[in-house]
Amino acid sequence: MILKNSFRTLTPAGEFISPFKVLKELYNLKKKYNKNFNTKCIKDEVSNFLASFINAKNLYFTSSGTEAIFQILKAFKDLHTNPTLYLASYTCPQIISAALKANFNCHILDINKNTLEIEYKDINPQKDSILLLSNLYGLPDSLTADLKNSFSLIIDDASQSLRTKRENENVGTSSDTIGISSFSRAKSISALGGGVIIENSYSDSKKELYKNIFNKISLNLNSLKKEETYLKNLILFLKGFIYYTFSSPYLYKIPNSIPFLNLGKTLIDLDFKVSSIKTFELLTLYLSLKEFNNQSYTIKNAKKWKEVFKEIDLISPLEKRNLNLSNITLTRYPLIIKDKKRREEIYKIFKENGLGITLSYPLSLKDYKEFNNHPKIKTETTKGSDYIKDRIITLPVHSKVKEIDIKKGKVKIEERRK
Ligand SMILES: Cc1ncc(COP(=O)(O)O)c(C=O)c1O
Repeated sequence: MILKNSFRTLTPAGEFISPFKVLKELYNLKKKYNKNFNTKCIKDEVSNFLASFINAKNLYFTSSGTEAIFQILKAFKDLHTNPTLYLASYTCPQIISAALKANFNCHILDINKNTLEIEYKDINPQKDSILLLSNLYGLPDSLTADLKNSFSLIIDDASQSLRTKRENENVGTSSDTIGISSFSRAKSISALGGGVIIENSYSDSKKELYKNIFNKISLNLNSLKKEETYLKNLILFLKGFIYYTFSSPYLYKIPNSIPFLNLGKTLIDLDFKVSSIKTFELLTLYLSLKEFNNQSYTIKNAKKWKEVFKEIDLISPLEKRNLNLSNITLTRYPLIIKDKKRREEIYKIFKENGLGITLSYPLSLKDYKEFNNHPKIKTETTKGSDYIKDRIITLPVHSKVKEIDIKKGKVKIEERRK
């Protein structure tokens, strides 16, 4: 037992479904639809299930979360000459890749170091501007009527918060916003990839804009060449098999020790692909939604980690946001260790002991070499995001985190203090 436990190595986030279960579901659907069975049946089935799961009006699947953002921006850009995207200085850099590809200006806003939320002080949004909320780690960003009035449009990115509620609505589904989500690794729903655009209800003042945007999105998505082949789905099956197998706490050590796999690295792809979602991705998403629908353990695990770190000077954005915890499903638990050196120490010990720790994004957005001094990118101060990038750790909260892992973390922290 002791030997077995010393091999436990946690993935930072995400639970994967067995690809054999996906095949079985395919068989069940084939039986259900009989002669009328085709890939559209699968898309409709998944779409209806996801729409009722998050209470959304209408869904448009895409090949990735980045593409979902890109399609919204491209449709908006067709209707406005010089639009600007406002976004947080600490978030997934692929968002800027989508904005640059859609020929948007970007305006980067700093974040608050206690809550990780955007600082809106003194901003006076340009005409024709969009605000993107990232809702990182499962924490819902505030979305007020004031914000909805100040921007032409709000994109509510639910990639890391699809199961979280903001007040009583799922993130991504608020009226007068357009939601998106990604379904790649380490997201709220870790399937095999793919993304979605979420159409919500709108008030009369936004009716015209919404109708035009969604007409364009439909046209653009329908004009994409279908690239689905048996070979591509077979490759996805194998990918599913690898993800599922190596998400086991006893096997994750293997891929995690191979440097060229770049696990956990933040990657930037300025020339990302625009294509359609594959059937095997849709089915994996469908089953993941069904299987992992109750995730109350994420908050329970966060509370246990917090106990482990109680002697360390830190900030917990989850607590600083004053949220109703029964509405929250975390993808990872973020903590800000005030002493930078201490953070490095903790990271090293937890990593050596296979405790699924990550450091999150390494830089404020403007500092990635791809965006540095870019003529279309304007940046406010980055004091908050610079503070965070050097101090944040994120801890795993998924169902494979066990008491033994948390105890191990506690022992390691205590050993260090002696
Ligand atoms: C908040 C957020 N938005 C968008 C994306 C982009 O999604 P994808 O990897 O599917 O392109 C990611 C992930 O990388 C993300 O974390």
